[in-house]
Amino acid sequence: MPPYLLPPAAITSLDEYLATDVGGLGVARAQSIGPSATIDLLTRSGLRGRGGGGFPTGVKWAAIAGQDETRRYVVCNGAEGEPGTFKDRALMRTNPYQLVEGLIIAAFVVDAVEAYICVKRSFERETEALLRAIQELQAAGICRNCTVNVVAGPDEYLFGEEKAMLEVIEGKPPLPRWFPPHEHGLFASAAVLGWEAPGAGNPTRGEGSNPTLVNNVETLSNVPHILVHGAEWFRSMGTDESPGNVVATVVGDVVAPDVGEIELGTPLRQVIDLVGSGLPDGRSVKAVFSGVANPVVTAADLDAPVSYEGMVAIGSGMGAAGFIVYDDTTCMVDTAYRFSRFLSVESCGQCPPCKLGSSAITYHLQQIETGAGTDDDVAGIAAWLARVTDGNRCYLAVEERTVVRSILAAFPDELARHVELDRCPRPRRLPIPKLLDLADGKAVYDESFWRKRPDWTYEPE
Ligand SMILES: Cc1cc2nc3c(=O)[nH]c(=O)nc-3n(C[C@H](O)[C@H](O)[C@H](O)COP(=O)(O)O)c2cc1C
Ligand code: SF4
Repeated sequence: MPPYLLPPAAITSLDEYLATDVGGLGVARAQSIGPSATIDLLTRSGLRGRGGGGFPTGVKWAAIAGQDETRRYVVCNGAEGEPGTFKDRALMRTNPYQLVEGLIIAAFVVDAVEAYICVKRSFERETEALLRAIQELQAAGICRNCTVNVVAGPDEYLFGEEKAMLEVIEGKPPLPRWFPPHEHGLFASAAVLGWEAPGAGNPTRGEGSNPTLVNNVETLSNVPHILVHGAEWFRSMGTDESPGNVVATVVGDVVAPDVGEIELGTPLRQVIDLVGSGLPDGRSVKAVFSGVANPVVTAADLDAPVSYEGMVAIGSGMGAAGFIVYDDTTCMVDTAYRFSRFLSVESCGQCPPCKLGSSAITYHLQQIETGAGTDDDVAGIAAWLARVTDGNRCYLAVEERTVVRSILAAFPDELARHVELDRCPRPRRLPIPKLLDLADGKAVYDESFWRKRPDWTYEPE
């Protein structure tokens, strides 16, 4: 299927965007058919959130629009903190207009008082492109009476977690709140600070809760296309449960890391070849991770379709379609250590088992990887994996358990081998692909991450 999300060359002016077969027509169609028909169209299209969870977009919009007697907000999640993912930045760089148009449609449909686009402070190119698009769309009257704010947030991974994102918009650090945005939205008139019984005056229900719609950049970028071309057009691509195209990122041990638009349902092996130009001669795939939130995919499952159901069928998940490829020279204990370190550093510590458990697991993995490990370290990991998610406010703790447990289950001999040998059998410096840039087949990883301490300060260089 031809790409529709990533243009062949970056669209840098409103005139160029209006000259496409979609520009400005999506919002016009939404206004002409009205909010409920727009939600119905989106629901029939089967669009699913591209931020990682794959939640049906039409259902999410209906849940926000259906709450009356309260203010409503819309937030676009452009934090893109998942290692191995660059697609949102690619979309914001090459066509910020379709994203802003999707956001305007969302704000119209849920009758939002304000809309926000959240990006990291370091995303300077993307911020510039977005501000230009917003100003031009406002000046042209396409964004009528609408306030779109761009929020430049912190570098922390948790900034992309939706409950933490709302805190940042409100001027606070990225510490996830308890209740989800549809229950405790932006600037809710009475803050939800803990568990409260439902009933009159409870801001988690009804008046004052300010239900807030949070959607990923790519999710919103799909919206104008669906409005213009229809639900059947969208369903003509992909699979029944995962219609449409997806913008995939492929990084790691591949020839040319890149971002590319593929049809959902394309086999993972083909995605690695099409987007990442495959592996160098003589090397083969040992493991693939879709970000740091899903179980590892082994070489035996490379023919699985890249779709929500296809990835679940092999015991993994789609995530944000950012694939980190490791070749046959890779030590899987080292990958477990590096992923665990990333998550333990990024854990905010509001839930002690998450911070303490992920830090302890990281310590034990490091002991084993560096040859100092014993059976006590292996037992320590197992004990914390059982408790790390206790009382978790957000999904990060589950990511720790999921990723580490899956690596140890898929490669059971590697842990034992380290303990037997008192060293790593495959020493090699592995990257944690926290991407700063990705262009022309070259990925730039954020090496400052290795200086980041668990309290989010940095070791001096
Ligand atoms: C630790 C963590 C980090 C996340 N980071 C991002 C992110 O960078 N971008 C994003 O769109 N969603 C991220 N998410 C998912 C969001 O919480 C949310 O589900 C998503 O923005 C919803 O949009 P969608 O329905 O369009 O997918 C993250 C979730 C977790 C638990
Ligand atoms: S689960 Fe972990 S990252 Fe999430 S809020 Fe609790 S301590 Fe913070």
